[in-house]
Amino acid sequence: MGKTGWLRNAWYVAAWADELTEGPLERQIIGEHIVLFRQESGAPAAVSAFCSHRRLSLAKGRVTGDRIACGYHGLEFSADGACVNVPCQNAVPKGADIRGYRVEERWGLVWIWMGEAALADPATIVEVDHWGSPDWGYNCGAAMVYDCNYLLIADNLLDPSHVAWVHQTSFGGTSCEAVPMRIREAPNGFTVSRWITDAPVTPFYRDLVPFDGHADRLQQYEVRYPSLAVIKAVFVPAGEGGEGSGEPWGPRAFVMDSYNFITPENEGRSRYYWFQMRNVRPDDADLSMAMSAAVLAAFSEDLEVLNEVQRGMDTATGPFVSIATDAGPLRFRNRLERLIEAEQAAHTKVR
Ligand code: FES
Ligand SMILES: [Fe+2]
Repeated sequence: MGKTGWLRNAWYVAAWADELTEGPLERQIIGEHIVLFRQESGAPAAVSAFCSHRRLSLAKGRVTGDRIACGYHGLEFSADGACVNVPCQNAVPKGADIRGYRVEERWGLVWIWMGEAALADPATIVEVDHWGSPDWGYNCGAAMVYDCNYLLIADNLLDPSHVAWVHQTSFGGTSCEAVPMRIREAPNGFTVSRWITDAPVTPFYRDLVPFDGHADRLQQYEVRYPSLAVIKAVFVPAGEGGEGSGEPWGPRAFVMDSYNFITPENEGRSRYYWFQMRNVRPDDADLSMAMSAAVLAAFSEDLEVLNEVQRGMDTATGPFVSIATDAGPLRFRNRLERLIEAEQAAHTKVR
């Protein structure tokens, strides 16, 4: 489980853009300690965290213009990690440079490329449909920290069946349990989906769905490598949905796209960034706040379960079984493992 290492040639979320205001910020991402800061232009920058002199974290330093200065003896580094000044001496010693990372600000988030800089292509950052559209509302919450491996979260996101058990009072309802999932493979991940037809609207969505009576509901979980998910929830009046139906939805449809970005800090800790886009009441700030609170409450249910699953994995001995609903998560893990192995093999070859 997660024994292969990390997918490095990928964009990970490093921070919310508005977390990066005053001063530098230290984060751990796939095991590496990184310090983020803003340059004079406002563009974000990221360098490895520890000063090449006596290893003080640059998060304790100061940003001046486009440089970050260590808070101990003032070594200065530019955004690409080059050491550009050592106070009280003329030359910069060999080996004083640290690593710089490619970063991009998009969708209110700061993204970091953890692999080879030459391969970083901002066009491969996930698209967010309807971003900035006046017809769509937006809500978000602070990042959540899970004390578990990121793959347990990916498993969870590819497993809509857990909704009926973990989220009984929010996303779920008794109608969810029996309907089987469809799994489709895409170049960058897997999609698991199903239609639940002619069912009552579950509690989380009751105030959002703009029609009365039973609904046809689409649950679609798309999880991409290494660990991001776009979850689509669609409710249409009963009879309008079901397999084969699709966009454009009818005028009474409720659509919510949930964007979920999981950044592994290390093997046992993960940071979870999320926001939702909805096609109803776009300017309703109270609704946005209520949705964020409800999503936080529901995700806290996942967090509690997954932290305990991690404890079970760390504690129990012997094998564990898999069941039918594990098909999506297991295929995802297998493909990701192969991608990581291929990346590592390519890296070894060029060295
Ligand atoms: S520890 Fe950073 S300048 Fe000395
Ligand atoms: Fe969940």
